[in-house]
Amino acid sequence: MAYRLGRGRRRRRSIPLSDLPRKAAVLISGSGSNLQSFIDKSACGDIDLDLCVVFSNKPDAYGLTRAREAGIPVECLKHGDYPDRESFDRAVAAVLDRYSPDLIVLAGFMRILSPWFVQHYAGHILNIHPALLPAYPGLDTHQRVLDAGEKWHGSTVHFVTEELDGGPRILQGRLAVNPGESAKELCRRVQAVEHQIYPEAAHWFGQGRLEFRDGAAWLDGGLLKDPVVTQYS
Ligand code: GAR
Repeated sequence: MAYRLGRGRRRRRSIPLSDLPRKAAVLISGSGSNLQSFIDKSACGDIDLDLCVVFSNKPDAYGLTRAREAGIPVECLKHGDYPDRESFDRAVAAVLDRYSPDLIVLAGFMRILSPWFVQHYAGHILNIHPALLPAYPGLDTHQRVLDAGEKWHGSTVHFVTEELDGGPRILQGRLAVNPGESAKELCRRVQAVEHQIYPEAAHWFGQGRLEFRDGAAWLDGGLLKDPVVTQYS
C-alpha cells in the first residue's frame, strides 16, 4: 500500500517534443523488470508514452526478450566494440534518433553516460537509482544501507545530468528496512516500489506536467525543490 508524504509548463527545449503520445526509448542492461512495469502500464493505458524502442548494450539482456514479446523494436550495440565511451554513446544516439524519442528512460542501464550523450538529450533523460538520493549514489546500495544500519531505504527517479546520480530528484519511494532482512529481500521490496514510481514519473513527463528547466525539475509549473515522496509499507 502506498501513501503520499509531501510534494510545468512547456518552455524552450533543446530537442523538439512530439505531439502526444510522446515517445520513450528505454535503455537496459539486464533483467528489465522496470521495463516490464512500463510495458504492463502502457498496455493498460496507465501511461501516456509510446515505448518506441528498447536498447541494450548487452545482447543477452533478458529485457530484450520482454520487449520482443511486447512487440517493441529492439536494438543492441556492444560497448566493447567501441574504443571509448563517447564513441559508443554517439553510436547509441545515432540508433535511438532513428526513433525520434522525446524521452530516454534509463532502466538498469549500467553504463556511465558521456557528457556528450547527456548534452545531446539534455533535460530528456530519466534514471532510477535504488537509494534515497542524495544518500548512497553508486553501486551495491542495498548492502551498504544494511551495513550502515539505516532505518529507511527506497528508490529515486531523477533527471540525468553530468553528475553521476546527482541530477534533480523527481519522485522517491520510501520504505522501512525490516529488522534482520537480507540485501536480496530488501532489493526485491525496493524493486516492487520502483515498478510503481518509475512509470508514474515518466507518465508525468509524457503528459507534459514534468520538465527540466534551469537545471531543476518542475512539476505542474512548480519548482521541485525536494522530490515528491511516496511511502510504502
Ligand atoms: C533497478 O533496481 C535499478 O534501480 C538499478 O538497476 C536495477 C535494474 O533492474 N539501477 C541502478 O543501479 C543504476 N545505478 P531491472 O533490470 O530488473 O529493471
